[in-house]
Amino acid sequence: MKVQSNRETEDSLNIEYTDTVGQPLCDDPKISTRNVDVFYADNQAIHDVSLDIGAHQVIALIGPSGCGKSTYLRTLNRMNDTIDICRVKGQILLDGHDIYQKKQDPVLLRARVGMVFQKPNPFPKSIYDNVAYGPRIHGLTRNKAELDDLVEDSLIKAGLFQEVKDRLHAPGTGLSGGQQQRLCIARTIAVQPEVILMDEPASALDPIATAKIEELINELKENFTIVIVTHSMQQAARVSQRTAYFHMGRLIEVGETDQIFTNPSHELTEKYITGRFG
Ligand SMILES: Nc1ncnc2c1ncn2[C@@H]1O[C@H](COP(=O)(O)OP(=O)(O)OP(=O)(O)O)[C@@H](O)[C@H]1O
Ligand SMILES: [Mg+2]
Repeated sequence: MKVQSNRETEDSLNIEYTDTVGQPLCDDPKISTRNVDVFYADNQAIHDVSLDIGAHQVIALIGPSGCGKSTYLRTLNRMNDTIDICRVKGQILLDGHDIYQKKQDPVLLRARVGMVFQKPNPFPKSIYDNVAYGPRIHGLTRNKAELDDLVEDSLIKAGLFQEVKDRLHAPGTGLSGGQQQRLCIARTIAVQPEVILMDEPASALDPIATAKIEELINELKENFTIVIVTHSMQQAARVSQRTAYFHMGRLIEVGETDQIFTNPSHELTEKYITGRFG
C-alpha cells in the first residue's frame, strides 16, 4: 500500500526566491553581514545573505536541514577557516570592523565571539579547569584568587554553580548532559565574549535540561548578544526577539519573532512554520 503524504516536496512548491523580505537590518547592530556567499569547493552553500545581528538580543536562525544555518553561523567567528575547502565572500563586520581582514587574529576573534555546539564537548579536565582554560590562555587574571572568582562567577552565570560547587575538581565529563552543556556555556562566558553563537545547544538534552538552557539564554542576553540555531520553533519563539528563516542557502525572511510565527510574509516561511516541509 502506498502511503500518501501531505507534506510537499521543495520542488512542488515552485516558489521563486527574490530578495529577503522583512527587516534583515537593524538600528543597533553588533554584527553586520553583507552579501555573504559561502562555498564548499564548487558547491555554494550560502547565497548573498545580508543580515544584522542586534546588540543584546537573541536572534534565532531557523530553516530545513541543509539550508545553511550552521554554515552561516560559522562565518560569524571564522570557524569556517578550520574547513579547508570552505571559502567565504562578502563582508562581516563586528562593531564596524571587518573580521576577515588579514590582521585579525582568529583566536582573539573567537574569544569575542564564542561558540557553543550541539553536543556538549567538555575537555577531559576538571570542572574548574574547563572554565579556567580560556582565561589562562588569554591571561585574563593576575593570580589564583582572581581566577577562582572568575571561574565561580562564570559557573553562577551559567546556572551551574550550586550543582557543582562541592566537586569543582571532579572531571567535567562526569556531569549529566544538561550540566555538561551548562559547563560549556560557563567555559564560553569565562573569556568574557561579546557574542555567543549557539548551534542547536539543547537538541541533545531532555526537556528539563532544555528548559534550563532556555532560561539561561534569556538571562544571558542582558550581557551578551546571542545567535541561536534551532530546529524547535517553540524554542525559537520562547528565547528569541528576532527570527531569520533560511531556505536552500538563502535568507528568505527576517522579522520580530512574534510576527514570523503568527503572520509570516513569505510563502516559504509560512509553509515551514506550519510544518509543510522541513
Ligand atoms: N564541511 C563541509 N564540507 C562540505 N559541504 C558542507 C560542509 N558543511 C556543510 N556542507 C554543505 O553545506 C550545506 C549547508 O549545510 P549546513 O550544515 O550549514 O546546514 P544546516 O542548515 O545547519 O543543516 P542541519 O539543520 O541539518 O544542521 C549542505 O548542502 C551541506 O552538505
Ligand atoms: Mg546545522
